[in-house]
Amino acid sequence: MKVTLDGVPVMNGAGTVNAEALNASKAVVSLNGEKSAPRQRVTRTLNVSVIGTGYVGLVTGAILADQGSNVICVDNNPAKLEVIERGESPIYEPGLDKIIQSALRAGRLKTSGDLAAAVENSDVVYIAVGTPPSADGTPDLTAVIQVVNQIAPAIKKHITLVTKSTVPVGTGDLIENTLQDLGVDPNLVDVVSNPEFLREGSAVYDTFNPDRIVVGVNRPGAEIKLLELYGRYGCPILVTNRTSAELIKYASNSFLAVKISFINAISRICEQSGADVAEVAKGMGLDSRIGKQFLNAGLGWGGSCFPKDVQGLLKCAETTGYDFTMLKSAEDINNDQTSHFMSRLRDQLGTFEGKTIALLGLAFKPNTDDIRDAKALEIIDLLKAGGAKIRAYDPVAMPNMMEVHPDIEYKSGGQETVEGADAVILVTEWEEFKWLDFDLTASTMKGDLLFDGRRAFRREDVEKSGLRYFTIGV
Ligand code: UDX
Repeated sequence: MKVTLDGVPVMNGAGTVNAEALNASKAVVSLNGEKSAPRQRVTRTLNVSVIGTGYVGLVTGAILADQGSNVICVDNNPAKLEVIERGESPIYEPGLDKIIQSALRAGRLKTSGDLAAAVENSDVVYIAVGTPPSADGTPDLTAVIQVVNQIAPAIKKHITLVTKSTVPVGTGDLIENTLQDLGVDPNLVDVVSNPEFLREGSAVYDTFNPDRIVVGVNRPGAEIKLLELYGRYGCPILVTNRTSAELIKYASNSFLAVKISFINAISRICEQSGADVAEVAKGMGLDSRIGKQFLNAGLGWGGSCFPKDVQGLLKCAETTGYDFTMLKSAEDINNDQTSHFMSRLRDQLGTFEGKTIALLGLAFKPNTDDIRDAKALEIIDLLKAGGAKIRAYDPVAMPNMMEVHPDIEYKSGGQETVEGADAVILVTEWEEFKWLDFDLTASTMKGDLLFDGRRAFRREDVEKSGLRYFTIGV
């Protein structure tokens, strides 16, 4: 087994049987060198339960089954389980249904509403239930603790209990203490933190091609079953203490959010100074210490993770007595970004009152139907408050938006949406919008304003058609 300069064990490349990778090693070396797993032959197929078939749980379960484990996906919503049993994915995620179908066909993926039975037959139990933000910004652990209470009586042989949901720092300790209070023999459970880093819309790709896997343990060797499960991914597997693993998740997502807010702050300077934020980002990103990813200026970050995790880290900092002003500023910049963009549109239109505005894209980013904390929601609120008429189109997120805003006009394609509009706003940079016919758009619109919230179009292409083009950071 290769070990990086930092002492991080690097498992063999994809396709190599994980057991071989483990057997070849003298020991599994942790980051700090403290822990080492016994040298052993690993030939078994692990039985895995994944509790919660939401985004993280379903992707984890389906892919582990695809990779050879026997997986039971557990959920208290029978309707969801029926959908999975039919070989469909209850969430929109490219490629996931095919993986579910092949795992079902191979007999390695099952579903169940019986939590206790699933746990009794499992070597590894993942907790992947929802941890939505509560009123004060901290993740609500009700569902996690409920699961712990339900599984406690079913723990009769050793299990590795893995938190996959994003949980506050210290949740592993809380789970361990809860199990002890419930009378579970501590030798029968290893509570492990294994944060998820997959992105919506590319979750399948990300799970097969992770940059790193983090396993946080509080007992030497507690990581071994997860190393068996993950051994075939050709990426560093970092074994840390449990609290560090929990913090790595928050720190990573918050850092990325800060990076986006930083470039969005630079975009504001660009708008006033004659610089172009795309050029600035390119020049910065070529410095390998900075890196070019997550430097796309736009309407700001949204989704189910960044807003929640930034809040979670702020709360965590607060409990340690640290005032994390930099992270608060990143949040402020993000909150201001869309309203600033919309005020530029209002300046051009004079007023929103009575204007027809076409929205291209509603999801918080492309390739997902998720509208949680989507910038489209903020835009719709501002337009409604200003008295505008809204027409919108998104390839997959419209049903979700219809539940929140049934009163706006939904269209069946981008070209149809822009017809008769005073202004068009590109909200989500779906690939299909790149093929918008600008000449046709110019001739069918009432007005001539194209506001690009994601810097998805080329100015010269748009302006050739006679449309007026406005975007972020220039
Ligand atoms: C994120 C993390 O990337 C992932 O590791 C973690 O597991 C969950 O949270 P996700 O929420 O799916 O994933 O979306 P991501 O692709 O990271 O984008 C987050 C937001 O940032 C989106 O609103 C996106 O539009 C925005 N973004 C991203 C930018 O505005 N600019 C960028 O350069 C990159």
